[in-house]
Amino acid sequence: MCGIIGIVGTKPVQERLIDSLKRLEYRGYDSAGIAGVVGGHVERRRAKGKIRALEEVLAEDPLKAEVGIGHTRWATHGEPSTRNAHPQTAGRVTLVHNGIIENYAELREGLKAQGRTFESETDTEVIAQLLDHELDRGKAPLAALKATLDQLTGAYAIAILIDGEDQLIMGARRGSPLVVGYGEGEMFLGSDALAVGPFTNRISYLQEGDYVAIDHKGAKIFDETGKAAERPVTTVPASAALVEKGNYRHFMEKEIHDQPEGCQHTISAYVDPVSDRTRVPGEVDWAGLARIQIVACGTSFIAGLLGKYLIEQLADLPVDVEIASEFRYRQPALQANSLAIAMSQSGETADTLAALRYCQKRGMRTVAVVNATESTMAREVDVVWPIHCGPEIGVASTKAFTAQICVLTAVAIAAARARGRIDAAEEQRLVKVLLEAPRLVAESIKLEDAVRGIAQEVAKARDVLFLGRGPMYPLALEGALKLKEISYIHAEGYAAGELKHGPIALVDDQTPIVILAPFDSYFEKSVSNMQEVMARGGQVIFITDPEGEKHAPRGARVVVTAPQSDPLIAPLVLAAPVQLLAYYVAVQKGADVDQPRNLAKSVTVE
Ligand code: G6P
Repeated sequence: MCGIIGIVGTKPVQERLIDSLKRLEYRGYDSAGIAGVVGGHVERRRAKGKIRALEEVLAEDPLKAEVGIGHTRWATHGEPSTRNAHPQTAGRVTLVHNGIIENYAELREGLKAQGRTFESETDTEVIAQLLDHELDRGKAPLAALKATLDQLTGAYAIAILIDGEDQLIMGARRGSPLVVGYGEGEMFLGSDALAVGPFTNRISYLQEGDYVAIDHKGAKIFDETGKAAERPVTTVPASAALVEKGNYRHFMEKEIHDQPEGCQHTISAYVDPVSDRTRVPGEVDWAGLARIQIVACGTSFIAGLLGKYLIEQLADLPVDVEIASEFRYRQPALQANSLAIAMSQSGETADTLAALRYCQKRGMRTVAVVNATESTMAREVDVVWPIHCGPEIGVASTKAFTAQICVLTAVAIAAARARGRIDAAEEQRLVKVLLEAPRLVAESIKLEDAVRGIAQEVAKARDVLFLGRGPMYPLALEGALKLKEISYIHAEGYAAGELKHGPIALVDDQTPIVILAPFDSYFEKSVSNMQEVMARGGQVIFITDPEGEKHAPRGARVVVTAPQSDPLIAPLVLAAPVQLLAYYVAVQKGADVDQPRNLAKSVTVE
């Protein structure tokens, strides 16, 4: 989704605005722009497409400003175009915006009736026009901003320049995050800590409804009632180095390789490697709990589904998992004494946040499993279960997925122990198994060359099927999701037992079928399905472990043998070959791996 940066600088800002926008590219965007104060007036430069295109515009016509704002836009209202790109200008006001103004049509009509003309189709321009209108009525900038915000319904993070106010940037947030960065004689606004990361790690997170004015002297923050507010300045650990690609060609490749470390850090936070016992943060009355409700989107939903398999099997505790965008609108019946768990890498996904708030309103205790610990979800829940895999930049989630699974595996063990389903010795055995995961994931990543070899052929396919049973079923869904997200090949993940009820019709000798089958209690059944597709000419890519390889029938086109592991951690171990397959197919096809078309990293609109 859109990214924001604002700098009140003491030296030229053009390059720094661009640098910051490049760091925000991971959020997904389709146009970009910057604006700055030049000789007392605000000027802007914008371009459709990648930041490269904006750089070309700037090469022709540089922006010689020391105070400026920048934006990457992911189109919601109005097609991706230069005209709809931000910054948007109306009269004295130039601003950038993340989010959606829900009552924009009504406001736009009102403003038009007053003789105002619009140059774009965006909801953002409505904010600029409204603010300009309030300034025209003689209000000072902050008072005009407050009057404007009071008329808006919807979600926004905004950064604003005003003609004639050379040293000032104003900002506001509701629904979309905005941070204030404190530098040496310079001040910053950003849509997240990464945006201001190259300039400072001293940050204040604005709260819902806050608005702010920054200048060389510092920041004045106000709450939604207009009262001056203090927001603590924290030092964020996300150093710029953490988000470099290093020697990897793509962030996704790096992040696949980061997984042993991400799992390691995450597992260490949830189990004590000395006593081999779990230590899940926050108070949860596992024994008294009737049910768990997991809500999430995308890959986080799939991690949640895997959590259901783990928690129900180990702890005998019912778990419902639902796609947040369905859950939030269908008025689901909730059981008293249940725990709501939101799974979200970003902690900002609009549908997941709304589903979480729905649960909260109904009195449920809430947990967020997030990577961004300063995110809105993390701040709103009763308990935060962080994943510790470091910032994830590739739009297609990889290391967050495995770290989420690590958390849910530890939680399943903890719940099982607290509910008396396993004894202390079994808890210790399972924790030891979980502690083996980072090493085995690292081993599994070594399958890279073998997987790269298959990619060439898969890249030619029109459809690819992924089949699995038990915990391999969610992984089959993830394999199909990864492949379609980044290589644009149609792929379906299916429970292998459902094969005969539909997907078998797709099978012919042109269809690669990825069967995920470690040597577990489902193995025989999965092998039967393998026979069924081979009998119809299907080209099987059999992803298994050494025991599975020994027992598998002949006839698979390729066998990929991951390290042997306990079934508890097989989804973690088999995730790497599945992700690598999608990655190398996308590379083979020359696709934009880190920023696949139409997708965004953090979906802050519904
Ligand atoms: C987008 C991303 C996915 C991600 C999903 C949920 O669709 O492209 O990779 O899984 O959002 O995001 P979240 O931050 O809530 O995990």
